[in-house]
Parts: sequence; structure tokens; C-alpha cells
Amino acid sequence: MEKVICFRNIGELIQVQSRRQTPKLVKKTRCALLVSQGRVNRVIRESEVNHHDFSREVDLKGRSVLPGLVDCHTHLIFAGDRKDEMEQRMAGTSYMEIHKNGDGILNTVNATRQATEDELYETARLRIRRMMTLGTTAFEIKSGYGLDLDTEKKMLRVGQRLRKNLRVPLTLTYMGAHAAPQGKTIQQYFEFVMEHLPEFRNLADGVDIFCERDVFTVAHLRRLFLHAKLVGFHQLRAHVDEFAHQGGCHNAARLGAISCDHLEHITPHDIRALQLSGTTAVLMPGVTFFLGGKKNPPVHAMIEAGVTLALATDCNPGSGPSYNMQTVLGLAQSLYRITPDQALIAATHGSARALDGHNDYGGLLPGQRADFIVLKTNDYRDLFYYFGENFVDQTYSAGKKVNGEKDPVAF
Ligand code: NIG
Ligand code: FE
Repeated sequence: MEKVICFRNIGELIQVQSRRQTPKLVKKTRCALLVSQGRVNRVIRESEVNHHDFSREVDLKGRSVLPGLVDCHTHLIFAGDRKDEMEQRMAGTSYMEIHKNGDGILNTVNATRQATEDELYETARLRIRRMMTLGTTAFEIKSGYGLDLDTEKKMLRVGQRLRKNLRVPLTLTYMGAHAAPQGKTIQQYFEFVMEHLPEFRNLADGVDIFCERDVFTVAHLRRLFLHAKLVGFHQLRAHVDEFAHQGGCHNAARLGAISCDHLEHITPHDIRALQLSGTTAVLMPGVTFFLGGKKNPPVHAMIEAGVTLALATDCNPGSGPSYNMQTVLGLAQSLYRITPDQALIAATHGSARALDGHNDYGGLLPGQRADFIVLKTNDYRDLFYYFGENFVDQTYSAGKKVNGEKDPVAF
């Protein structure tokens, strides 16, 4: 007989339904979630539980159950930290000024080049374990702290090992076009990235580029995307229009980007392109908060246009060291003035769409992976109301509990 686990006595169960409609939260009370072979089987009423025989029953004590959070934009494989730079910024130097002075990303590049593959693996593994404890059940990770062939490949091999050993949905992105290494101009380095792109095809699912003033241009983005498609990368994503409007968003959308990320400076023309292309807009309020920025993306105009929104941490040592998606939810509500429902849909279904994983996870729907979190209370809005607290009591990945009291802190 098929093994079915019954997660019973759920006070409030949240699913995100999305078939042929704008995604919406569906809330069921006093129910049980049936899981078989790591996937959601169905939801039944609590009063029906005793009419069945299950291989195992887990009492969730009237708590709130939500789809696991999805972090669709991270740079979580890195070595070192950039606390000195944080202090410089607070003394008045901007993120891009620090970058232009040859600091910033290049500091992390030095540290990451020096770290061994095992060291990078272990620090990234601890970070992911901690993120899971905080409620994240699916991830994306970019390379981009090597800027040479060996280190970029080393980072992606670490990503492959994490995917194999942790068995969580993990999308890997080659981001050679993150910055130019010391001694090369942007143009020289870009040609190098283009030439070697095919070598990364078996290591990553997609490509990304930092398209910004003083980094890579829209022309670079277009060339990279066209070449990446030719070489066989399925997912094109881009850091665009974050500090200034460059036109990266509408160019990326036109070329079939699966996601456009940051978007603080986009215009109605860009929003129209996102709408027409069905590209997901990935928003990272933690970065704006951490850098002390004032400008938010035009979130409400995007919502009105029916653009799918996603939320992510951007977990990286420079512009967003936090890896806590619960914090991202709280910041999204307050900085963007969106409701808990809108933020939660973006951090689950929306982020899953940015990774092309929305059929498999992000909704807690029958047939999807049983990736879910159990809160410490019976009202998911507590995540937003008592912001800054950790409300995740248990995290389940494919029906198995993956957090515990002994989880290390991953600094
Ligand atoms: O998404 N913008 C470029 N990349 C990262 C920051 C990387 C870093 O500062 O180390 C970002 O913000
Ligand atoms: Fe980023």
C-alpha cells in the first residue's frame, strides 16, 4: 500500500492557486495535509482524519502551514565579508563609487579565488541550512566571484555538490558578466566571457549579467543573451536598471529573459515589455534597505499591468548579506506598500516562476513537492506584523523535516 503521511490538526493552511488565473492565496482552516512520496497528495478536513489509516500522523497543534519560501536570486557561494565597505558607505561613499574604485565585488573575488572548493562548499552549506531553518525551501545561486575560468567553475561545482547532497530544488546561474577582473577592461573581459560561454553549459542552468552604468552595457546584455540561447542555456536573467535607467529591462524582456531583477529605475515602457513577455520581476527590498537607498521599483504599476512579482534576498556579501526571506517579506510589505497576501504570493509562486519551478513547488498544491513551513502561531500575518522575529517552527522539504535546534549560525 502507498505510504501516506498525515500532517494533522492544521489551524490554517495556505496554498497558492494559479492555474489559468492571477495567482491567489487560498486559506483552509482545521484541516490535514496528506503527503506521499514527498509530494502533496491532498488536503482533507480534520474531522475526516480518523476515518483513514495513515502510515504516520504528525500533529501540527493548530498552527499555520504555508508553502516553503523560494529565494530566486542569491550569490550565496562566496568567501570573506565586506564589513569595512559597509562602514565606508555609511560615511558617505556610494556602492557604485566603491565599485569604481576597484573595491567591492573585487574584494570578494580575491577571497573566493583563495578559498578551496571544500571551504566554499562548507560555508555555503551552512548558509543554506540556516536559510532552510528560516523557511526557505528552494534556491537560486549565481557564480560571479571568480571572473576567471577556474574560480567560476569551482563555484558552480560547489553548487552542483550542494544540489546533489542537500536534495533541494536549486537552480544554478553562470554570472561571469558580474564585473571586470583587475587588469582587464570591461570590453576585454566581456569578449573572454563570450568566448568561453559554451564551457559553462553543463555547469549552470542559465546566465546572468550586471547591466549597469560603469559595468556592462545593454549592448553587452544583448550579445550575451543571443549567444547564451545559441549555446543552449534555457534561463536568461539580468540585474537591470538598479542604480540608473539603462534600458536593460526592456531589452532583456524582449530577448526572452525568464526574470529581470532589481528594477528600481524602470519606466512604463519597461513595464509594458515585462507584461508582453511574461518575464518575472524579481524585487529585493533587503538590498534597498541595507544600502540605505530611497528608490523602490514601481511595484503598483507592475501589479496593475499584471506582471508576476517575485521576492528574493540577493544574499551576497556586498549589497545584501541577509539570507532571511522572512525579513524580505516584512520589508516588501512596508517599503512597497503591498499586502501580506501579495508579498507571500511573490515569495512563493512568483519566485518559483522566476526559476521555472512553479509547476513543481511554490503553491503546496496536489502533485507539487511537499515543501512547507509550520509557523509558531496560527496566523500567517504574524510574519509581517511582528517583523524581525523568526516565526518558522518547522521546515519540510519533500515531506521531511529539515530544521532542528542544533542548526549552526552561518556567518
Ligand atoms: O545583486 N549587483 C551586482 N551584484 C550583486 C552585488 C554583489 C556584491 O556586491 O558582491 C547584487 O546586488
Ligand atoms: Fe544580485
